Amino acid sequence: MSDAATLILGDASYRFPILEGTEGERAIDIRTLRAKSGCITLDPGYANTGSCESAITFIDGERGILRYRGIPIEQFEQAPNFVEVAWLLIFGHLPSPQEYEAFAADLTACANLDEGMKHHFEGFPRSAPPMAILSAMINALSCFHPELFELEDADRFRVAAARLISKIRTIAAYAYRHSRGLPYIYPHPELRYVPNFLHMMFSQPYAQHVCDPVVRDAVNLVLLLHADHEQNCSTSTVRMVGSSQANLFASCAAGVCALWGPLHGGANVAVLEMLEQIHHGHLSPEEYVRLAKDKDSKVRLMGFGHRVYKSFDPRARMLANVAERLLPQLGVRDPLLQIARRLEEIALEDPYFVERKLYPNVDFYSGIILRAIGIPTNMFTVMFAIGRLPGWIAHWWEQAQTSGNKIARPRQIYVGPLETDRVPLSERGELGTA
Ligand code: CMC
Repeated sequence: MSDAATLILGDASYRFPILEGTEGERAIDIRTLRAKSGCITLDPGYANTGSCESAITFIDGERGILRYRGIPIEQFEQAPNFVEVAWLLIFGHLPSPQEYEAFAADLTACANLDEGMKHHFEGFPRSAPPMAILSAMINALSCFHPELFELEDADRFRVAAARLISKIRTIAAYAYRHSRGLPYIYPHPELRYVPNFLHMMFSQPYAQHVCDPVVRDAVNLVLLLHADHEQNCSTSTVRMVGSSQANLFASCAAGVCALWGPLHGGANVAVLEMLEQIHHGHLSPEEYVRLAKDKDSKVRLMGFGHRVYKSFDPRARMLANVAERLLPQLGVRDPLLQIARRLEEIALEDPYFVERKLYPNVDFYSGIILRAIGIPTNMFTVMFAIGRLPGWIAHWWEQAQTSGNKIARPRQIYVGPLETDRVPLSERGELGTA
């Protein structure tokens, strides 16, 4: 195959190099397009645009493949360990036993929040969305750790990464405790990442929460399945903010905001609301699917479809298996699981979904698992954020380490009025026109 692409524009033609990734993905390198031809490309939603080269995560959406640093996601299923995956994504290789122990110990040591920061929670109303609190408090962290603004070397970066990964779960737990009017529970120095989070969420001052190993493994798996997904909306946001050389905390706080939307991380809440709506008798699964196909209804089958996956999302398959196993193990009978299964059955046989290659995505079953564990619905997207944080950090650092990194600044095609004169206020009509 040719290693260059030719663009013919009128009488002129221009050649652009073809780049190839390690898995054979091909891209036309158009960095010189505007300088050579005066044209730009237009690609709303960026479905055909590569924003960077990255060595962190590989997805083949046609074949349902997801690999972290080359390792198939399925290989983390047997002994799920979120901390190990966080290290892998950020530092590029599986941790040695010593690296793992040191990182896990750092995560435990950094878990506490400055007492000053704790008082910030009081300023939020009880009803505040936990994603708003999470984003604000990640930004606030930078005020308490200004020494981590300049991350010029790998050692300082490692400390900052550990701080952020550790403290995000304390912030999340405190946001939940505040919303319920419960006392804050300090992190426990002898508990590892997931049990410590569940302790801060569910312990009482007079009764410590005991973490069931089945729950610990399920939460580890949920978190690690969310840990990275290459250039998704929130990760691209983190990269975009970071490209202006904004600090790690500010960039990740922006990532939280991007994740919040119902087409991205907020979909796990929307899935639960959809299942509850069906359960409470407003609609049957068949009626809901009919509505989701009707373009006038504005309804979508939440937890279905993906920009990249055009076959099964491997994460959805693994989470469906966990839901099947976990609920009986915990003695939970959740009618929403039956409804989800029925919706999946109907959609997978319906030509509308088959033709558009719409399959269950990561959000379809994650909420049922989180609900069985006792995580309230409004905390689902926060759980996604805790999981996605190592990916954001890995991408922020990869970009910061790339030489010749440029500020992200797309162009546009202007479609507004041509040059026109300002009419003085006194001469304008009621609607502001002369
Ligand atoms: N229900 C009904 N129709 C759908 C759905 C759905 N869930 N998803 C896509 N379609 C239709 C859409 O109407 C369009 O139809 P047509 O070609 O007739 O106009 C076609 O499928 C292509 O959809 P699109 O919106 O152009 O595809 P996209 O790649 O821009 O959007 C998506 C991907 C995930 C935003 C979309 O599938 C969606 O809205 N899904 C529901 C929300 C959801 O579950 N989001 C979580 C995504 S996975 C986790 C994450 O990344 O955060």
